[in-house]
Amino acid sequence: MKMQVAPSILSADFGNLSAEVKAICDGGCDLVHVDVMDGHFVPNLTIGPVVVSAVAKAATKPLDVHLMVENNTFFVDLFASLKPKYISFHFEEEKHPHRLIQHIRSLGISPAIVLNPHGNPDDLEYIINDLDMVLLMSVNPGFGGQKFIPSVIERAQRLKALIERKNASCLIEVDGGVNDKNIHQLKEAGVDIVVAGSYVYNSDDYAARIKSLQV
Ligand code: DX5
Ligand code: ZN
Repeated sequence: MKMQVAPSILSADFGNLSAEVKAICDGGCDLVHVDVMDGHFVPNLTIGPVVVSAVAKAATKPLDVHLMVENNTFFVDLFASLKPKYISFHFEEEKHPHRLIQHIRSLGISPAIVLNPHGNPDDLEYIINDLDMVLLMSVNPGFGGQKFIPSVIERAQRLKALIERKNASCLIEVDGGVNDKNIHQLKEAGVDIVVAGSYVYNSDDYAARIKSLQV
């Protein structure tokens, strides 16, 4: 299987958002990554359902909604009607991850958990079989354009081993600082999906940048 690429619209030109979303979809991306930040869980504030519904309208590829918020259930319910393929929430910020996973699935959406750069994949041992995806952060959440934290490679290997040991059907996604320099290492570590914001959008040729990650 080829690496799937989910460009993050965080680095897009928001004054021209629907064209920017269309451009990555026409450029061959696999998913459209939407970063929702509430100004509390992370020191940044992004977009809510009004803007994300415009993104959903422009997108011809499924949405991958990454919640960086304090009140996960409230935001899951806010975005559910837009029918994203994935909704991921931060493990660090959820008291009842097992319950929220079931709730997301009951809405017809694939549930995913996000681990911050310090997060140990082995902590997911007893919920890995309930998840469709685990997102490993390779930067601290909050901003685009940060430097890749290399320990994510070892964490991806650990997560891959856990998935195999538990016979789970759960994909591995990595988010932050991904580019053509680290993509092969990520592939070798067993990563299935990469998020790339600045690497795709800070270029003149989105399609070429997306293709360079579909290894
Ligand atoms: C960071 C976000 C990322 C970010 C990635 O909190 O979750 O999705 O937009 O941007 P780059 O690829 O520029 O690191
Ligand atoms: Zn993200």
